[in-house]
Amino acid sequence: MKVGILGGGQLGRMLLQAGANYPVETHCMEKSEDCPAASLCHNFVTGDITDAGQVFSFGKDLDAVTIEIESVSVEGLRKLEEHGLKVFPSSAALEIIKNKVTQKEFYAANSIPTSEFVITRSIEEVRANQQLFPAVHKAAIGGYDGRGVQILNEIKDINQAFPGDAVLERKVDIEKELAIIVARNNAGDTAIYPPSEMIFDPVLNLLQYQLSPATLPEKVLWKAEAIALAVVKNLNSAGIFAVELFLDREENVWVNETAPRVHNSGHHTIEGNFSSQFDMLWRVMLNLPLGNTAKIMDTALVNLIGQTTETVDENSVQLRGLSKIDNAFVHLYGKKESRPGRKMGHVTILSNDRKELVFQARNVRNIWEGNI
Ligand SMILES: Nc1ncnc2c1ncn2[C@@H]1O[C@H](COP(=O)(O)OP(=O)(O)OP(=O)(O)O)[C@@H](O)[C@H]1O
Ligand SMILES: [Mg+2]
Repeated sequence: MKVGILGGGQLGRMLLQAGANYPVETHCMEKSEDCPAASLCHNFVTGDITDAGQVFSFGKDLDAVTIEIESVSVEGLRKLEEHGLKVFPSSAALEIIKNKVTQKEFYAANSIPTSEFVITRSIEEVRANQQLFPAVHKAAIGGYDGRGVQILNEIKDINQAFPGDAVLERKVDIEKELAIIVARNNAGDTAIYPPSEMIFDPVLNLLQYQLSPATLPEKVLWKAEAIALAVVKNLNSAGIFAVELFLDREENVWVNETAPRVHNSGHHTIEGNFSSQFDMLWRVMLNLPLGNTAKIMDTALVNLIGQTTETVDENSVQLRGLSKIDNAFVHLYGKKESRPGRKMGHVTILSNDRKELVFQARNVRNIWEGNI
């Protein structure tokens, strides 16, 4: 089979690493050859994934395509579907998810619990909906990694609101942020991974690390799993989906958002689960049986965020320090440039002892940040 990946970042790179185990010819399109995935695919094409015509010409001679980022042209994918290709996720599912307004409307229409919201098209409409405060305001399109999201606690924060199309939603009193990866094949069968929980720095409000499986009361686990499966069932598309959820202080579970693709919150599955999210997507695309989502061991996942503009080579103190940890796997994404805030890699730590996971997660951060 010939399969194309639209986008050449770290997600494409890790998908290609897993794809090397399968009888598949891989193609990848990204705007620059200087991207993490370029050197790992059989055929690299320089192009604009947001352009319908370029997406179509990239895919037209392939059997299937997938995406590693939501900005891919929906129209381009639709044309490929009409041309007979399998597209993971479907263009219709991507179209719903790509825009935060249609995504929220989708949850509401399918009775999937999500925090109460209104759609706003101007600051005046935000002002007119003060009953939702404290609220979170989300631009309809273009946001990622927290850009495009503004917390509006009080009406005096309104100058930070988005003037264009956006979702204004009630701020959830969060106990835990969770993520669940779900796979769905062409026959509609699903496989669900154990949930992960995000641990945030309370001062900086930045993701510190992720633990998997999440520690949850059994009833909360069932609720979260049922909701994640309902999201994927109603999207009615094959592929891999990451459902981000909030657990509030009253044990309610709310969907925050869904990514119709492999996701950062599933990187631990490479070493921590029998079939990784990347392996699973190949199984779906190649029409093979779904893999085993069960954990092999508990994990902590730490993102390696760029500190300076300096990249890491084999002599760097950071890489040498991280490589000394026995039960850790280091992944560097091969980005040619480092920038503060940029995801440069991740480390997965394996242990069935939670204290050891937390200790090593902090250790990894300290080594990476040059504190020790
Ligand atoms: N309704 C809400 N109540 C409380 N906190 C929220 C709410 N919506 C979003 N947040 C906070 O803002 C963060 C980012 O929001 P969201 O996931 O929608 O944006 P994003 O730009 O897609 O971010 P990312 O790419 O990091 O997932 C959430 O992880 C959560 O911490
Ligand atoms: Mg998010």
